[in-house]
Amino acid sequence: MKILVLHGPNLGRLGVRDPAHYGVRTLAEIDALLQSRGAELGLQVQSFQSNAEGALIDYLELEAPTARGIIINPGALTHYGLSLRDALESIHLPIVEVHLSNIYTREEFRHRSVVAPVVTGQISGFGWRSYLCALELVAQLVAETGQTHN
Ligand code: DQA
Repeated sequence: MKILVLHGPNLGRLGVRDPAHYGVRTLAEIDALLQSRGAELGLQVQSFQSNAEGALIDYLELEAPTARGIIINPGALTHYGLSLRDALESIHLPIVEVHLSNIYTREEFRHRSVVAPVVTGQISGFGWRSYLCALELVAQLVAETGQTHN
């Protein structure tokens, strides 16, 4: 059972980029945490980072048809990435939008997420833990797929 983890622009620089907002863990460390928790949950976690919106969309087009759930931190594309939003809207899987920082306590332009209306839900403000929390939720949703209740 494959779970995709997508990281948008500038997230490849975690660890050095603005640690007050994003913490000190690198993206590789976060991906490794997700891999190992995923293995415990019986999930194959496959991560991808790009600074380009089109590359994220291409990846979704290629990988989503064989995936069971998606975790995505769109970076600043959260606030204006309409092509990414449309791509996510067309995918009928559990999708969790993740933010390391609490986007609602920061600059006003970060308060709006254009992807929020087309994903299952959002986790914002718990640092690297936001991703781990998203994985637990996706695992739960995948396990419930096929059951008759919501
Ligand atoms: C972010 C928040 C965005 O506003 C910002 O552009 C990022 C990271 C977060 O994880 O807190 O790149 O998505």
